[in-house]
Amino acid sequence: MNVDVVLGLQWGDEGKGKIVDYLAQKYPVIARFQGGPNAGHSLHFEDTSFVLHSVPSGIFRKDTVNVIGNGVVIDPVIFEEECRAIEALGVPVRERLMISKRAHLILPTHRIIDAASEQAKGSSRIGSTLKGISPAYMDKTGRNGIRVGDILAPDFEERFHALKSKHLVFLQQFDYKYHPDQGQDKWIQAIDYLREFKLIDAEYYINDCLHKDMPVLAEGAQGALLDIDFGSYPYVTSSSTTCAGACIGLGFPPSRVGKVYGIFKAYCTRVGSGPFPTELFDRESDLLRERGKEFGATTGRPRRTGWLDLVALKYAVILNGVTDLIMMKSDVLDGFDTIKIATAYKINDILTDRVPYDIHFPVVPVYKEFRGWKKDLTKISCEKDLPAEFASYIRFIENETGVPVRIISLGPDREQTIIRK
Ligand code: IMO
Ligand code: MG
Repeated sequence: MNVDVVLGLQWGDEGKGKIVDYLAQKYPVIARFQGGPNAGHSLHFEDTSFVLHSVPSGIFRKDTVNVIGNGVVIDPVIFEEECRAIEALGVPVRERLMISKRAHLILPTHRIIDAASEQAKGSSRIGSTLKGISPAYMDKTGRNGIRVGDILAPDFEERFHALKSKHLVFLQQFDYKYHPDQGQDKWIQAIDYLREFKLIDAEYYINDCLHKDMPVLAEGAQGALLDIDFGSYPYVTSSSTTCAGACIGLGFPPSRVGKVYGIFKAYCTRVGSGPFPTELFDRESDLLRERGKEFGATTGRPRRTGWLDLVALKYAVILNGVTDLIMMKSDVLDGFDTIKIATAYKINDILTDRVPYDIHFPVVPVYKEFRGWKKDLTKISCEKDLPAEFASYIRFIENETGVPVRIISLGPDREQTIIRK
């Protein structure tokens, strides 16, 4: 049996929560492999909406085991709040969720460092979610981090204070006001809550599942264009968001990668700073934001919006080895007379269909125009009822990427989903 992987092909917020929740019917195990509470995965079902940050999106499915892998960073306080809110809905979270002992912890001082360094960057700030993601991964790769398994060690508190002291020294370089014990009491309490969960050697668990023919679905956070290596560096997150990251973040071998579901929106959004070649600034931008409710699920920030960028999408398809494309929020484009897709970039008057190493130069997108369908897609439940203009939009994407669009989402609800043959 294999691990199938679901990941975002853009700058995050593609709708991974809805799709993982949808696909979860077929998988007994759902596992998060990277990122942390910077993620905001929204689920809508039976008149309920829920935003998940650290917990995998299979948590609302009875009989589904959810795993937080070693590649994830966990803020115990956010984790506790999230789990208690899920428990309040009658879901037995502790029975359905297991956590890798190798996952790293986000300390209160990681969040302070995140805020201080963003402030120091001034106009070149990343637009971080300020959840302490980058400082936590810095400590992981710098071999200073504290892992989930460490909370069971007798000297855990000493380790915590030793790392906190290092952070306070580091913070001296910044002109930033904070209280050294900010958030500490809550954090220590939340560690007690975390101890009540099943803390496991998740790499053994995942590989045992595969040997027992139990399929696993790996749930990515963020998106390919925010990847630490392949994203628009330095305007990226601090983890490997591409398919290879699933192997690292869960501990299964590359030979076990099965299907790779690549999720993209029918247009583009980005939250935070950094290059966005097809970004719109006018009425069309506002229309996309309003119709798509494009406000951050984690931070509430308005998202930047623009047309679909096929140059970037093809790049993401190559990096991930996508086998199945999933197109989200198609209905948001319903009202447009003309819809555009960028097929190339012009950089210094040179035409290219590749994402360059550095896209800080002015990039002028070259567009192909499509006639809008001007019909309400949200009520359509059968592929044959889709408007011809919409079908040609999809066909163009399939021809260009060489990958079939298997699932089309026409609204936030589980029911508003069409599976294509
Ligand atoms: P999901 O999983 C959209 C962005 C931030 C910022 C950059 C770095 O919901 O798709 P970080 O806090 O990671 O240091 O911020 O990455 N970012 C996201 N944008 N969706 C996300 O997650 C994101 N997680 C991080 O806005 O630009
Ligand atoms: Mg998000």
